[in-house]
Parts: sequence; structure tokens; C-alpha cells
Amino acid sequence: MITEQTLIIGANSDIGKAIAAQIQASENTGLILISRDLTPPNSVPSDLIAANVTKISVKDYQAESIDQAVAELAQHKHAPITRVFVCNGILHNDHIKPEKRLEDFDSQAFMEIMTSNSLTPMLWIQKLTPLLTGKSPCKFVLFSARVGSISENRLGGWYSYRASKAALNMIVKTASIELARRAKNIKLIAFHPGTTDTPLSKPFQKNVPANKLFSPEFVAKQLLDIVENTPLDQTASYLDWQGEAINW
Ligand SMILES: NC(=O)c1ccc[n+]([C@@H]2O[C@H](COP(=O)([O-])OP(=O)(O)OC[C@H]3O[C@@H](n4cnc5c(N)ncnc54)[C@H](OP(=O)(O)O)[C@@H]3O)[C@@H](O)[C@H]2O)c1
Repeated sequence: MITEQTLIIGANSDIGKAIAAQIQASENTGLILISRDLTPPNSVPSDLIAANVTKISVKDYQAESIDQAVAELAQHKHAPITRVFVCNGILHNDHIKPEKRLEDFDSQAFMEIMTSNSLTPMLWIQKLTPLLTGKSPCKFVLFSARVGSISENRLGGWYSYRASKAALNMIVKTASIELARRAKNIKLIAFHPGTTDTPLSKPFQKNVPANKLFSPEFVAKQLLDIVENTPLDQTASYLDWQGEAINW
């Protein structure tokens, strides 16, 4: 019998897929996947698709689409949602490259990155909070990055991506202050996976030592352990893949 559910948003992320694959192993945990593309083998390898998986498609991550997804989600709330993973994030795409210097900055690209990396997670926090507030503990993970740390920025570059993750961190911190008053069961975690072998890091892997380039499976296992062991303390945490705190 399903006694709790895990929600993975942006489930087509390679790290999201690895989390889904590891959770599949458990019988009493329902899995809810939200993505723009849920056709196998996306999101969950087809051989792992089982009865305890619910899929919700979104057209995009605009507020209206998120409202529709949350309305659909409410109908599937047979058991409490105890873990949420918001995987959304872009660093590059066919028309965006991270900036090396001021001359590379482009307003349109900045807006696109801020939208996917900061605004989308903000909307998920806003719209999911009513559904998650209650007695059952809920660990709510938002994928950030170490480069979003203002105090640890020594290398420079990547203006838009850094700014979008710093903005996300501020959103997480600010929301945790409000949730400490009105939803004490929700713990927000901004998570840095480390450099992980996914499409997002592909163009930037050549200078990464082999032992510092993680597989999505390794990161998913680390994250599930971190989520298990992080207490509900009504404050936001900014943690890396080892569970170590990063300076904001
Ligand atoms: N890989 C790394 O080395 C690394 C390092 C630090 C931080 N991170 C962070 O970890 C998270 C997961 O990344 P990943 O490495 O698994 O990357 P990935 O496989 O490239 O996944 C991309 C994710 O972004 C979503 N997405 C793509 N375009 C979007 C848009 N326009 N608006 C909103 N969402 C969009 C996708 O959702 P759909 O399911 O709808 O496609 C998917 O969840 C990201 O937030 C990333 O910034 C990754």
C-alpha cells in the first residue's frame, strides 16, 4: 500500500530520472512525475514503469501550466507528499552560452535563464505550499548550484546562471522564513549536486577530473540520504552532494 508520495518536477532531468529509478525500488512510495516530456524512455526508463507512478504533463512552466498541474496533482493526493524535487534549470541551449566576459551578456538570454532557474522554482514553491502544508513532514529540494553562492564567487563569469541560482537561493531562504510561521512541516533545501554527467554539464566537462564528475545515480543516492537525514528545523539549508553546508 502506498503510504507516502514523492514528487519530481522537471522529471526529464538526468538527475531527476536517477532519483525516480531509485525510488521505484520501494513498494510503499508513490512517485509523481511532472515534465514537459514524459514519453518513455524519458523521465523513467520504460522497464521501470509501474503502477505506483503518476505522470503529469505540462506544456511549459508558465504560471497557468503550473496551476493546471497542481490542480491535477490535488486529485492524486491519496497519500501525503513527503519529498519534492524541483530539478528545473538551464545553463545553455541552442542559442545560449554562459558568459565569459561582460561583452557576452545578452538581455534575452538572461531573462530566459532567470525564468527557468528562478521564476519556475518560485512558482512551484508558491503553488505547492497549500498542498504540502499539514502534519506529514515534507522535504522540498530545489536544485541550485555552488556558483549561486555570492560569498564563494572567486572565479567570475557565467553572469546569468550565477545570478539565477543566487536569486533562487534568496527565494528559498525567504520562503523558509514564511514557512516557519505557516507550514512548519516543510523543510526547504537548496541543493548543489556537484558536476554531474548530464546534458547540462556536457560542454564543460573537459577540465573536470574524472573523480569529480559524478554519475546521476551517485548524486541521486547521495541526495536521497541527505533528504532522509536532514531534520525539519524551519530553516533553509544550502547543501552540497556530501550534505555539507555551502555559504550563501
Ligand atoms: N549537471 C550538473 O553538473 C549540475 C551542477 C550544478 C547544478 N545543477 C542543477 O541541477 C538541476 C538538474 O540538472 P541536470 O544536470 O539534471 O540537467 P538536465 O538533464 O539538462 O535537465 C534539465 C532540467 O531543466 C528543465 N528545463 C529545461 N528547459 C527548461 C525551461 N525552459 N524552463 C524550465 N525548466 C526547464 C527540464 O525539465 P523537463 O523535465 O520539463 O524537460 C529538466 O528538469 C538543474 O537545476 C541544474 O542547474 C546541475
